[in-house]
Amino acid sequence: MRKITVVGAGNVGATAAQRLAEMELAREVVMIDVAEGIPEGKALDQWESAPVEGFDTRVTGSSSYDAAAGSELFIVTAGVARKPGMSRDDLLKTNAGIVESVSKEIARVAPDSIIIVVSNPLDVMSYVALKASGFPKERVIGMAGVLDTARYRSFIAMELDCSVEDIQALVLGGHGDTMVPLVSYTSVSGIPLTQLISRERIDALIERTRKGGAEIVGYLKTGSAYYAPSSAAVQMAEAIAKDKRRILPCAAYLEGEYGQEGIYLGVPCKLGEGGLLEVLEVELTEAERAELEQSAEAVRSTITKLD
Ligand code: LAC
Repeated sequence: MRKITVVGAGNVGATAAQRLAEMELAREVVMIDVAEGIPEGKALDQWESAPVEGFDTRVTGSSSYDAAAGSELFIVTAGVARKPGMSRDDLLKTNAGIVESVSKEIARVAPDSIIIVVSNPLDVMSYVALKASGFPKERVIGMAGVLDTARYRSFIAMELDCSVEDIQALVLGGHGDTMVPLVSYTSVSGIPLTQLISRERIDALIERTRKGGAEIVGYLKTGSAYYAPSSAAVQMAEAIAKDKRRILPCAAYLEGEYGQEGIYLGVPCKLGEGGLLEVLEVELTEAERAELEQSAEAVRSTITKLD
């Protein structure tokens, strides 16, 4: 790609920009933030690492959206993060206002771009970005499933003392306590997880995955996770920038898939040039379907709190 813009130069945004640059996913990476000097300073600092790291992606920062004009892809991380004891939904009102104005600016300076939403509560902020930008659903996708799945995979790898690379898994549903890790689609080099770990231990790993974000908030106290969230967002960006057609769990706007209508929910998506190419509908057990329904209900009720 020619240009990718990261909105928000906080921990998630700045780390995402650095990863994008180091992977040379675009000729230019722009960081935008309202905090004066922060995007410029962090961008310059990152660019000064280029001779050592060996990347030619120019990183720049600005407080003006005009600097983002012509970007093909945006990663939106703007908003406030959780403090200990807060749920993602506690961020609703503040972040909805921020994501709405950011999305309008994006539509103004780059009307043909693709937006990856990272701000929380994720599923609802994706919905806000869709409505405020006026973009089609193919061009507004939420990041959460890749992160939740990465956490789940990392815990399984620790449990089995094996390579993370050999673990395939799928976590669906909303990015919250109601997320739905699919045990039936979890395998280790093709071996079903249930043959390697007891059901009791699997349940414990699932519980830890559900609370994975809160576990980090509990340690950091002044903010939430950013290394894994930025990795997840950048993996989605890579799939789009390189037209890899990867199948990744992402928050997509559903219009009938999985029996859901008019909400964002984590489902298996094919990502490539143009954004969301396809939502894959996979078979679910009775219990998984019920859990997904419950997760959708939680997202729907948060949307009604918007106004
Ligand atoms: C987390 C935040 C980013 O899960 O939602 O860590």
